[in-house]
Amino acid sequence: MSSYFKIAKKKFKKLKHKKDIIVLAIESSCDETSIAVVKNGMQVLSNIVSSQIDIHKKFGGVVPEIASRNHLIVIDDVLQEALETANVTLKQIDAIAVTYGAGLMGALLVGVTYAKSLAFALQIPLIKVNHIEAHISANYICNENLKPKFIALIVSGGHTALVLVENYSTFKLIGSTHDDAVGECFDKVAKVLGLGYPGGPIIDEIAKKGVACINFAKINNVNTSFDFSYSGLKSAVINYLHKAKQNKVEINVADVCASFEKTAIDVLIKKSILACKKFKINKLVIAGGVSANNYLRKNLKIECLENNIQLFMPQIKYCTDNASMVASEGYFKIRSGKNLANLKLTAEPGLNLKYSKKL
Ligand code: KG4
Ligand code: ZN
Repeated sequence: MSSYFKIAKKKFKKLKHKKDIIVLAIESSCDETSIAVVKNGMQVLSNIVSSQIDIHKKFGGVVPEIASRNHLIVIDDVLQEALETANVTLKQIDAIAVTYGAGLMGALLVGVTYAKSLAFALQIPLIKVNHIEAHISANYICNENLKPKFIALIVSGGHTALVLVENYSTFKLIGSTHDDAVGECFDKVAKVLGLGYPGGPIIDEIAKKGVACINFAKINNVNTSFDFSYSGLKSAVINYLHKAKQNKVEINVADVCASFEKTAIDVLIKKSILACKKFKINKLVIAGGVSANNYLRKNLKIECLENNIQLFMPQIKYCTDNASMVASEGYFKIRSGKNLANLKLTAEPGLNLKYSKKL
């Protein structure tokens, strides 16, 4: 065992019982370079997010190699800003948390290597954090009273899943997508409509001005399980656009967006409520980039109220990728004595939630 890891292990054990824990977290899994300083998993002292959206926009999506290079360019400045905003020095940091998967290999490696270097230089514990678990943790930041057990709807660019969260680290998979993730579907539909990247927020805005009058519903998610499928919906929108072009019919983009959004989101709402009922849990949490969607937030609120389900949603700024959620997840891992990493830690692009079993 290296002398660093011996020291880190000792400090990690002590940390579990320390009254106040300050975690510095790093997130670089995709196109956001983010560093946050968070006290006790909930009190965000700083949350700096440097987005590369403008750089990738012209390519219509994230270019992995460009993402890695830009993480490298900005990460020093992001750290400086995170420390200054939090008004803390590196000496006050108790542990470093870092996203090690899922995500883009090169992008993840920048964050992981930076985190390892910091942890080694400061001789403090390094905590490895799963990006999907971190998205769920965004809810602990925003809702002090939230405690497991609950049902979580995870909706991002890479994931669409319903999960039973039994405690801070036991997850049971209820259902997931067979093909595209819902966020990916928003991005692809926006691309064929020529609306730009990322598609989710753009469709969200445009859909508000439209009417959901086009029926894409039959194609999508008609089965009765808790699983999802989005590739059919994507094809349905593409076919609709092709037919309109062939027949020289003018399309109403706002109506297409509203109809697509309704079809994509209604099934998430329906299955989330059904999952709460089936497992007799009246607490529902949403997480991931798509949880910023206005139609989802508004309609899920109504449905939860009608069904006596307590709904928890992250603030918009904590829905998409950010390091605060990584710090929060890291904090809960420290308190439960889990996820201490050594300096051999590497990126795991295909990491999923560690489900204890499928229900
Ligand atoms: O969680 P996230 O930032 O990154 C991943 O872990 O994938 O999610 C990004 C995804 C993108 O597909 C983006 O289009 C979608 O979240 N998204 C939205 C909205 N804001 C972001 N989708 C629908 N409505 C939104 N307002
Ligand atoms: Zn994410």
